[in-house]
Amino acid sequence: MYRSRPSGNLDDKALSFLSSIAEDADLFYYDILGSQAHVIMLYEVGILTKKELVAILKGIDHLLTNSDSLNRYGDSTSEDIHELIESAIIRITDIKSGGKMHTARSRNDQVILDIRMKLRDDLNRISANIILLIKSLLLQASSNVDSIMPMYTHMQQAQLGVFSHYLLSYCFSLTRDFERYSESYERINCSPLGACAIGGSSMNIDRERVSSMLGFSDIVYNSIDATSSRDSLIEFASTSLTCMLNLCKVAEDLIVWSTSEFGFVFLDDRFSSSSSIMPQKKNPDPLELIRGKTGVVQGILVAISTIMKGLPSGYSRDLQEIKPLLWKITSILEDSLSIMVGVISTMSVDKNKMYADSSKSYAISLDIAEQLIKKGGIPFRESHKLIGTLVDYAVKNGNIPLNLLKLSDISKALGLIEYSNPDLTLEKIQSIIQSLTPENSIEYRATKGSPNKNEQKEMISYITTRMNEYEEILADRSNRLKIANDKLNLKIKEFIDDSS
Ligand code: ARG
Repeated sequence: MYRSRPSGNLDDKALSFLSSIAEDADLFYYDILGSQAHVIMLYEVGILTKKELVAILKGIDHLLTNSDSLNRYGDSTSEDIHELIESAIIRITDIKSGGKMHTARSRNDQVILDIRMKLRDDLNRISANIILLIKSLLLQASSNVDSIMPMYTHMQQAQLGVFSHYLLSYCFSLTRDFERYSESYERINCSPLGACAIGGSSMNIDRERVSSMLGFSDIVYNSIDATSSRDSLIEFASTSLTCMLNLCKVAEDLIVWSTSEFGFVFLDDRFSSSSSIMPQKKNPDPLELIRGKTGVVQGILVAISTIMKGLPSGYSRDLQEIKPLLWKITSILEDSLSIMVGVISTMSVDKNKMYADSSKSYAISLDIAEQLIKKGGIPFRESHKLIGTLVDYAVKNGNIPLNLLKLSDISKALGLIEYSNPDLTLEKIQSIIQSLTPENSIEYRATKGSPNKNEQKEMISYITTRMNEYEEILADRSNRLKIANDKLNLKIKEFIDDSS
């Protein structure tokens, strides 16, 4: 639109190829805020007269209150929202006032300002959803500290555990996601405005003033860095991918556990799809889509870093391609987290099925092996061999549960490895095996962070405390933005009221 050197208009195809107006819709509100703070600062440092400032502020107000005025006044040859808004303000006011609003500002610092402002809000909403999800997991965990189930490694039964232990493990990984987002927030929450195109300005502008009016904690100091680096955005994408990978694991676990073969959990009908042909079907499609969308976020991270790869310092139009990818990440994260909240808080758990599978499981083997060490005084390696031999025998003879092995079975099985130890007789081995139940095997497993009931309670209270801290952190962040925003709006109102 501002074609001072090139003559005539852009080719129509070239204009639509260059235009980012569609994806800029999400930036409209932030571009307006940035412009309001910028022009107030321009007035404060003496670049705009009060009359010019008020004219621009009124023009902006007009855009905000009349939904069609952007299209009515904005220049249709604008390549993006920044040009569209500026051209509309110039038409609503006049070139003498509106023509000054872009003083000491470039679209290069403007676009990354808008992106940072939008991402701050996105991050806060995503973080709030993470808290909601952790809370729903905590609720389910509290009612499942006694739900004994097999735990899996290599998707094979490994040890006995309790369902709350899994749910809490998801909480722990989500706390790290929250913290990664918080660290990323600090780096995003810096204002690039005033860096101009790349090398700053000879006008007497006040970068810190704009930054504080917009609620930023600092400015992006170096003007080249401010306009051309996108590493904080890559960090946001990578943090989001990590969070999705964590959600993906929850989704995968629940998909497996909700199969008829496992039958440990039932997804609520509100979060299940059906089949167009098979009447019996109840499918975990929402969870599958979380898994699928994780792939999309992964692709976006690769796309953003590929766009960045090989770019020189200083703004290049390639950077424009990153914006819609970021918006997509935000919508995937927000949706996936809130769908997961729904799935977790409505699912039901079949404790009996979990217990039935646990009581016939060889996942109790390590607990028995450890009892043999404690009560029989044998080295771990011998105990491992002994129980492994018994399990092999039991499996080959019709999957006999270990506590149902007769003395003759034990004698036959251990005869194969020529077992003999007067201090740990076959009778003693049998009685040690029979003394272990799923319940006491978990009670004995008292190491920190284990499935033991006390540990479950400790972990629940630890995560609950963290949630209180996180809520404060989030409230503080949102509050700072709100205070800055209220202050700015008040200032604008004073300028406009004063003039009438
Ligand atoms: N629409 C552009 C973007 O989204 C704004 C910056 C354009 N700057 C420029 N000098 N061409 O990145």
